[in-house]
Amino acid sequence: MCGIVGYIGYQDVKEILLRGLEKLEYRGYDSAGIAVLNDEGIHLFKEKGRIADLRNVVDPTVSASIGIGHTRWATHGAPSRVNAHPHQSASGRFTLVHNGVIENYAILKREYLQDVAFRSDTDTEVIVQLVEKFVNDGLSVEEAFRKTLTLLKGSYAIAMIDAENQEVIYVAKNKSPLLVGLGHGFNVVASDAMAMLQVTNQFVELMDKEMVIVTSEDITIKTLNGDIVQRAPYTAELDASDIEKGTYPHYMLKEIDEQPFVMRRIIQKYQDENGQLTIDPQIIQEVLNADRIYIIACGTSYHAGLVGKQLIEKWAKIPVEVHVASEFSYNMPLLSEKPLFIYISQSGETADSRAVLVQTNNLGYKAITITNVPGSTLSREADYTLLLHAGPEIAVASTKAYTAQIAVLAILAVATAKAKGIELDFDLVKELAIVANVMEMLCDAKEEMEKIAREYLAVTRNCFFIGRAVDYYVCLEGALKLKEISYIQAEGFAGGELKHGTIALIEDGTPVIALATQEHVNLSIRGNVKEVVARGANPCIISMRGLETEEDRFVIPAVHPMLTPLVSVVPLQLIAYYAALHRGCDVDKPRNLAKSVTVE
Ligand code: M6R
Repeated sequence: MCGIVGYIGYQDVKEILLRGLEKLEYRGYDSAGIAVLNDEGIHLFKEKGRIADLRNVVDPTVSASIGIGHTRWATHGAPSRVNAHPHQSASGRFTLVHNGVIENYAILKREYLQDVAFRSDTDTEVIVQLVEKFVNDGLSVEEAFRKTLTLLKGSYAIAMIDAENQEVIYVAKNKSPLLVGLGHGFNVVASDAMAMLQVTNQFVELMDKEMVIVTSEDITIKTLNGDIVQRAPYTAELDASDIEKGTYPHYMLKEIDEQPFVMRRIIQKYQDENGQLTIDPQIIQEVLNADRIYIIACGTSYHAGLVGKQLIEKWAKIPVEVHVASEFSYNMPLLSEKPLFIYISQSGETADSRAVLVQTNNLGYKAITITNVPGSTLSREADYTLLLHAGPEIAVASTKAYTAQIAVLAILAVATAKAKGIELDFDLVKELAIVANVMEMLCDAKEEMEKIAREYLAVTRNCFFIGRAVDYYVCLEGALKLKEISYIQAEGFAGGELKHGTIALIEDGTPVIALATQEHVNLSIRGNVKEVVARGANPCIISMRGLETEEDRFVIPAVHPMLTPLVSVVPLQLIAYYAALHRGCDVDKPRNLAKSVTVE
């Protein structure tokens, strides 16, 4: 949440910052700002709304070669121009951008800054005011910056400039992501490498509670005790085309279409030289050592975890519990004797999941992170990582990461089964290849999905998704997709549970999307459809080839019965996409949301 960029060097900085912020807009988009510094002093431009709105207020005649920028997802203080970053100290000498939450900002204000007139409602402003206070008290800027950092409780990624020094950007990180990028004659700062790929692909990771003095020629990483840290850069293996929409109108549609390719890439990445799917033997050993697996995740990743539970329990015969991270953290269940934790997170930065990881690390339990982002916080802090290889996912609504998560969990389940000597009567490589082909066919059925979206969802204010067994889990995901981008109230229910209350909501014309991909519950889910139809619902049944009846609206080609979520979710993603489009919603940047949720 919130994106930060910074540049110091020789080029005019405005366009570099604005382009960087455009790449980070998925992290928050309710207001934005940049501050650039030249011989005349600081030039500050801020605006409520998108980066496009910010562009309109940036003075094109100002030229500078040091600056910082920010795109915001509001936590403290409403989205407004005044609450937009950068924030400035009382005298205007220091200007700062921040991502994260300063939990003790009210205490710090009371203890140190009683006399300062604050301009914004943000927690951030306290940081920049503290730096100025400590400089006024006689500390050097670096000392004041460090002293301020030692007082902060909470999460932060910070970049700060000093109107009296065009040679330095002061940078710090704790819990919120931040990278420093290296160039020749310039250096940059960014929340995500993709923001600065325009100028470099060489990045240095920062660890929590580190600060960096960034000049155009050099970077110096220090701990908060002042010890210098040496760290080698890495090459960001991102292709510029991965982060462009190309000819697609929206990232979400592009990412839905990429799913067959991602399936094939996962097969390739997890195959050994004999063509066998394989997982790091150390990870398999940890799984074998465990008497129970706890999957921890949020949102779509949680829904993938529910499917993963089925796969691991049925194939590898190990009990699995799946928990929403934000609940687990404050309400930890009684754990088994030898638990193993699996964290699923597309971004690898989700604060709710990280809070649990910190707890389980403190308890000494082993953890695996399944993520799309190598080097992300959850990846670094877990013992092991399994990568999704899905390529950057930019649309706020997660699509290809969900199917990649399920595919990786399937591979883990099969590899564990094999290590336990459990015979499985299928070849997962072949089954995933079939899945990829079917996904392709489903991606080609856009016209039909568009028709369904128009027919069922153009005017409705609510929609129910029903399914049984693994279809129920996909219904939860279908409902989340629809609600987050179209703002239609959508809920997923277990078919059999409806009659215990929810059926009261069914009225004439209420759309009910039913999934029927599971043979053992096919008759029961169809019975549930009859129940809602009897009360006026408008049913849309999506079934699997071999289980279909005449009343079905769409039939998905058959895949392995345990892998149906990988394909049945595709029509639901497309229906959500077209429903949002018909309603004129901003598909890639839905209201109130941000792509990576880095605050608890
Ligand atoms: O990056 P993560 O997978 O940890 O994110 C978890 C959720 O915030 C995320 O899946 C969210 O629910 C998506 N917007 C759903 O499309």
